[in-house]
Amino acid sequence: MTTETSQSADGSVSAAAGTLTIVDNRTGRTYEVPIEDGTIRSTELRKIKVDEDDFGIMTYDPAYMNTASCRSSITYIDGDKGILEYRGYPIEQLAEKSSYLEVAYLLIYGRLPSRSELEEWTHLITTHTFVHENIKDFMQGFRYDAHPMGMLLASVGALSTFYPEANQIKDPELRMMQVVRLVAKMPTLAAFAYRHNRGMPYVYPDNDLSYSGNFLSMLYKIAELKYQPDPRLERALDVLFILHADHEQNCSTSAVRSVGSSQVDPYSATAAGIAALYGPLHGGANEAVLRMLRRIGTLENIPDFIAGVKAGEQRLMGFGHRVYKNFDPRAKIIKRAVEDVFEVTGKNPLLHIATELEKIALEDEYFISRKLYPNVDFYSGLIYEALGMPVEMFPVLFAIGRTSGWIAQWLEMIDDGEQKIARPRQIYTGARGVDYVPMAERS
Ligand code: ACO
Repeated sequence: MTTETSQSADGSVSAAAGTLTIVDNRTGRTYEVPIEDGTIRSTELRKIKVDEDDFGIMTYDPAYMNTASCRSSITYIDGDKGILEYRGYPIEQLAEKSSYLEVAYLLIYGRLPSRSELEEWTHLITTHTFVHENIKDFMQGFRYDAHPMGMLLASVGALSTFYPEANQIKDPELRMMQVVRLVAKMPTLAAFAYRHNRGMPYVYPDNDLSYSGNFLSMLYKIAELKYQPDPRLERALDVLFILHADHEQNCSTSAVRSVGSSQVDPYSATAAGIAALYGPLHGGANEAVLRMLRRIGTLENIPDFIAGVKAGEQRLMGFGHRVYKNFDPRAKIIKRAVEDVFEVTGKNPLLHIATELEKIALEDEYFISRKLYPNVDFYSGLIYEALGMPVEMFPVLFAIGRTSGWIAQWLEMIDDGEQKIARPRQIYTGARGVDYVPMAERS
């Protein structure tokens, strides 16, 4: 708790260890604010006042650049060292050894499942992949060229009307039922949106296939009786879902938590996450990478392009990250997956350009001094394209993987006794106490 401290005659302040001493130069008063986990509670600053009527000091942090909005034990990132861990497990190990459904279990339940728990979880998810026929009809009502992300956003929101009991978020059993439904139905809705956009009939889930294999079947099955996904593509997709499963308090996760803090049902909170991911600053960078690679066109054009980047004329898309000031660990894993996918689909000539760009940038002083390394989006667009996805589907694929993270964060928030409805403060800059002017008197 913040306490006001006294100064000795020589002006020095004796303060307890583990505290921050603040001198308010407006009043000359000195305060000791406790530091816990390298953090001070901003509400403690409210005790620093000029007089009794003063509201107290606030902090101004428009994009949450330095504000922790929660305590979380789900995902750990060390951006300087290029570390990403889910529940303490390094992403490299999970991408190599685990499956998306196992990772979803890990994120949601906080630990790896036993064999029987994983079987039961997989069975639960597999048997909830179908959606109500009215959801299908609802999706068919979209315009022929509707953006699949807009369709996903609307249909996930609409799920709350099919499961009205979902608003009983304090009931642990009902809560887990919605969690299962969300993870299970997301690929179905995503695939329906894709098929709609192509003018193709929707394909129902195939419960004999894996999570990713079934998704490929719902996307690409045409006239064959049974779709057989290529195991290498199935695995590559599963790895992509793992890599995108969570990334702590990013824009869409903050949206899920913020909307969920009103105690709305998890479908509506997840729809908020999808809406945030729809924005080009969040879910759209890999599309920009593809456009950039196409624009460069040939290896010979790379030096000119790099010179333009260094002159500030354009950015090297897929490089740099707000958090990672080292290799984004996901980029390394994706690069390996690209090679596996191209073994099946044939090489995309853009890969040569991407590899050469990366090589040059990693040796160039401009990028080294600014700590600009490839991020997750540098290679993911190439894989998605190789899998036959149009760019509109890129954020949709991201949303499927991220659903387990959103929902794990939502569950953590519901059980966190410190959380209340999210309600930031503002610094008011407008007029005050202005008298209403009748229309005839307005100039
Ligand atoms: N190409 C060239 N220069 C860059 C790049 C880039 N991709 N990224 C940053 N820089 C330079 C900036 O010009 C600036 O240089 P200066 O100090 O000479 O002015 C310096 O590096 C710092 O850049 P900031 O914009 O301040 O860094 P910030 O952390 O705000 O930006 C961001 C991070 C937005 C990701 C940025 O690196 C970028 O625009 N990258 C390209 C887009 C991209 O790949 N986005 C995907 C991110 S991953 C994701 O969202 C899932």
